[in-house]
Amino acid sequence: MGDQNRDLFTSKFGVIAAAAGSAVGLGNIWKFPYIAGEYGGGAFLFVYLGFIIVIGLPIMISEFMIGRKAQKNAFGSFKALAPNSSWRITGLFGVIAAYLILSFYGVVAGWSFHYAAESCLGNLVDKTPQEFESLFVSFIEKPILPVVWQSIFMIVTAGIVLLGVQKGIEKYSKILMPLLVIILLVLVVRSVTLPGAEKGLAFLFKPDFSKFTMDGVLNALGHAFFSLSLGMGTLITYGSYVKKSNNIGRTAFQVSMADTLIAILAAIVIMPAVFAFDIAPGKGPGLVFITLPNVFQQMPGGQFFSVLFFVLLGVAALTSSISILEVIVTFFVEEFKMKRKTATLIAGSTTALVGVFCSLSMGVLNTSVFMGKNLFDTLDFFASNVFLPLGGLLIALFVGWYFGKQRTEEELSSGGRFKVNYINVLFVSLRYIAPIAIFIVLVYGIVENLEIYLELDIMPW
Ligand code: PFF
Repeated sequence: MGDQNRDLFTSKFGVIAAAAGSAVGLGNIWKFPYIAGEYGGGAFLFVYLGFIIVIGLPIMISEFMIGRKAQKNAFGSFKALAPNSSWRITGLFGVIAAYLILSFYGVVAGWSFHYAAESCLGNLVDKTPQEFESLFVSFIEKPILPVVWQSIFMIVTAGIVLLGVQKGIEKYSKILMPLLVIILLVLVVRSVTLPGAEKGLAFLFKPDFSKFTMDGVLNALGHAFFSLSLGMGTLITYGSYVKKSNNIGRTAFQVSMADTLIAILAAIVIMPAVFAFDIAPGKGPGLVFITLPNVFQQMPGGQFFSVLFFVLLGVAALTSSISILEVIVTFFVEEFKMKRKTATLIAGSTTALVGVFCSLSMGVLNTSVFMGKNLFDTLDFFASNVFLPLGGLLIALFVGWYFGKQRTEEELSSGGRFKVNYINVLFVSLRYIAPIAIFIVLVYGIVENLEIYLELDIMPW
């Protein structure tokens, strides 16, 4: 198997930058800090880290392995490794999930571009917390401006994908990821040196087991999936560009650790700053777009740090969205024999179009699409609570029970070049732990939403 002309990543650093670029995104910067604080700080962190290692890492290794072995897109990989079987549906789910995620992801990424521009122009100062709130709400409800920013974001994303694996994805990940780390470190230093920062660090790291609930456990697993970009074939696609000389077990370990470390650093940026100014940590997008501008305006050098922060958010979103778009583009190129240019144009414009409706569903088109949710929340719900866990479950079962230990070991060792002394542990996770845990999360996510919608009380917790 293998395509001699395949556009492959050229270096180990390129692989790590691209894969970590995919993993590090909006999930790390606005979601992780909030949920970590919400579910008992240190206690949540401990469990999250456990899930990353016990479940996330095995699935990441599996995705890389599948892609590199098959040298194909997410759908084609299953077709190649399991001919004449229904496993290919797993890849198809991945392509659908990519559509769903990119549509709403591009909207939020557009918001961060807008906020970066606004802070550059000095428009995020001298406001009350209520003014920041109405500024944000009235912005996302507008019909034109958020769509313009989302479109700019999608054009940049498609532009990089269009350039291909080496000249686009790898090249820009190698530039953007170090930039992201530098900005993050500058912001960490700023935040922890603010007087009163300790309260935020305590909120984040002091284990509070009273706040650590079943809900926290399930959120930890769900977020581990989203954060590591697992379950939709992103890393299968990237894996297909990895050379045989790369130790994919090690690469997966480095990528998952980098992603976790960056999430923790983002939380160290946000929480101490929020607490130093005695502001209640807000939830979800509000934390970043309402609470933080309020924090920045009170901070010495706030405008500068505000620009840095929103650029950071935009960069993080960009390297993630190129990986999502790449899943669809490679699928089109390989399965429909399209030129990369045509595929990028079609995939980019159709995801952007769905994104336009997502953006409008915040304002003029704010109607219930599914279980009382608007389009934006519906896509988020299906992607994060259904498609990603389902994809992860199928990938674990595929490698654990279908593809098997021997072939996996052979691929992971690159034909005997690397030791795979973790193979037995890997298979215990892929065969038993991961499928059972993901199944629970999958069912929980669905039942919980039904429960809220139908105002029922089914669950024991
Ligand atoms: N990992 C990204 C984040 O944490 O924001 C989101 C993401 C990217 C999810 C790529 C899935 C994916 F395939």
